[in-house]
Amino acid sequence: MSQETLNTHKASLLLSAANKSHYPPDDLPEIALAGRSNVGKSSFINTLLGRKNLARTSSKPGKTQLLNFYNIDDKIRFVDVPGYGYAKVSKTERARWGRMIEEYLTSRENLYAVVSLVDLRHDPSADDVQMYQFLKYYEIPVIVVATKADKIPRGKWNKHEAAIKKKLAFEPTDTFIIFSSETRQGYDEAWDAILGRL
Ligand code: GTP
Ligand code: MG
Repeated sequence: MSQETLNTHKASLLLSAANKSHYPPDDLPEIALAGRSNVGKSSFINTLLGRKNLARTSSKPGKTQLLNFYNIDDKIRFVDVPGYGYAKVSKTERARWGRMIEEYLTSRENLYAVVSLVDLRHDPSADDVQMYQFLKYYEIPVIVVATKADKIPRGKWNKHEAAIKKKLAFEPTDTFIIFSSETRQGYDEAWDAILGRL
């Protein structure tokens, strides 16, 4: 599939699910978005779909609580996964969250790839490293998107990219994209990487 054959503007929230019994049928390829709370997952979705606020974003972390399935042109789906690493949640909540994500990532037959978002400005957190290693373990293709690139000078991007790759033990068979939802830096690369996995 190419960007030309996909009407990326024809997108809508299909449903929100807490567990398997609520997932839509597994008839379309899905791309899931994972990453720390507030890293910019929902903003990434909005940028790729050319929409301001289809996926709800917030400066308040923990906005996305369920698995949100977005239908794109009846051809593919994006699955916005609640962010991890948000301190202000109870142990019970955290455990529920863990089960919800794990159930989806380990059992979903039509999951084609996970876009794993990290913040280009910072070294990946322990949770970021764990997520990447988890995806490697289950042999789920990963596209690492290092976002908020607009917040650091272009001359420092390479240095930050190298630091992130080192910390993740990034495998060269995966894709690494420097991205910004503010400037749309990396927009074409992100679509190419996603559609290239279908
Ligand atoms: P949760 O739903 O809580 O897991 O967060 P999220 O990962 O969906 O983050 P969200 O997209 O809501 O963005 C969090 C904040 O970061 C918002 O204030 C966004 O405007 C901001 N943000 C996201 N991406 C970028 C970016 O590329 N550049 C800049 N400057 N800000 C960004
Ligand atoms: Mg979100």
